[in-house]
Amino acid sequence: MQSLQELLKTHEQDIQAFAPADATELESYRIKYLGAKGIVKQVFGEMKNVPVEQKKDAGQLLNAFKQLAEAKYEAFAHLQSSNKKADKAVDMTLPGTPLPTGTRHPLRMVENQIISIFEKIGFSVATGPEIEDDWHNFTSLNMPEHHPARDMQDTFYVSQNPDWVLRTHTSSVQARIMEQGHLPVRVICPGRVYRNETISARAHCFFHQCEGLYIDKNVSFADLKQTLYYFVTEMFGPDTKVRFRPSYFPFTEPSAEMDISCTVCGGSGCSLCKHTGWVEILGCGMVHPNMLRNFGIDPEVYSGFAFGMGVERITQIKYQVNDLRLYSQNDIRFLKQFQSI
Ligand code: PHE
Repeated sequence: MQSLQELLKTHEQDIQAFAPADATELESYRIKYLGAKGIVKQVFGEMKNVPVEQKKDAGQLLNAFKQLAEAKYEAFAHLQSSNKKADKAVDMTLPGTPLPTGTRHPLRMVENQIISIFEKIGFSVATGPEIEDDWHNFTSLNMPEHHPARDMQDTFYVSQNPDWVLRTHTSSVQARIMEQGHLPVRVICPGRVYRNETISARAHCFFHQCEGLYIDKNVSFADLKQTLYYFVTEMFGPDTKVRFRPSYFPFTEPSAEMDISCTVCGGSGCSLCKHTGWVEILGCGMVHPNMLRNFGIDPEVYSGFAFGMGVERITQIKYQVNDLRLYSQNDIRFLKQFQSI
C-alpha cells in the first residue's frame, strides 16, 4: 500500500505540472497515462499485490488517480477538437485568393509603342544621362550662353557644380551620339527630362521625351516629313492628317512644328484641340550645320534631321488623359485603365 502511494504521488506531480502546448503533446499524454498500455492501466494492475483488507482503500486511491489523469486530459481536450475543426476548414478544392497583377505605366507603354514604330524602319535606341553638362545640353546644340532656355527659371542647376544641369530635353543625347562619330546615325532616344515649372494639370517639373536623329549623306526635309508621317499613321491611324508649321530651334535649320488632325473630334473642334481641329505633337528640323561642325561632321557631305516629342503629350492625345499630374500620382484606379493596351 505504501509503495503504491509513493508511486501514485510521483505520477500525480507530473500530471499536475503537465501543460501541453499543442495537440501532439496532449496526444502523447493520453497514450502515456490513459492508453491501453498506459500508466493508469499499469497502476490498476498493482491491485493484485494489495492485501485483501487494504483493497478498498487502494481502490479509492487508484480511482482518484484515474480521475485526476482524465480531468487533466479533459481540460485540454479543446486543443484536439479545435485542431480537428481547423483541419476541416481547409477545403483544398476552393479556388485560391487571386493576387492583383500590376501593369506597365501608361507612359512606358506609349514609349514602347513609339520605339517599336521607329525600330521597324531601322532606328535603334540610345540613352544618355539625366544629369548633363552644359556642353551636351546647351552649348553644342547651338544654344550659346545668353540663350533664354538657360534661364534659372527654366533649368534646374546642380548646386555642387554650376556646369551641371538636369537635362532639359533629350537633344543632349543627340549631342552624345554625334560625339561618338559613327556614321550614319539612325537613333531614337527616349528619356526623362526636367524643367523648373510649377506643377499643374498642364505643366510638370519632369516629363518624358523621345528624340529622333538621322544623319547620312543626302538626307532631306522630304525624308523627315515622310518619316514623321509614317510615325503618325502607325500611332494614330491612317486617317490622321499632318501639317508642318515653320518654327525655330537653335539646333535645327530649317525648323518646324508638326500638328496632327485632332483625334478626338476629327477636326471639327473640341477642347483637346482648343477648337482649331489641330494638335501640336512635336518639334523637328534639319540638323544645324553648326551642330554638325561641333562634332567634326562635314555639313558639305552629311546632312540630317532631328525631332523631339513629348511622351505625355502623345499619351494625352491617344488616351485623352487631361491632367499631367495623374502620371506620377500612382493612383491604381488611373493606372489599371491601361491594363488591356
Ligand atoms: N528639344 C526640343 C524641345 O525640347 C525638341 C526638338 C528636338 C526640336 C529635335 C527639334 C529637333 O522642345
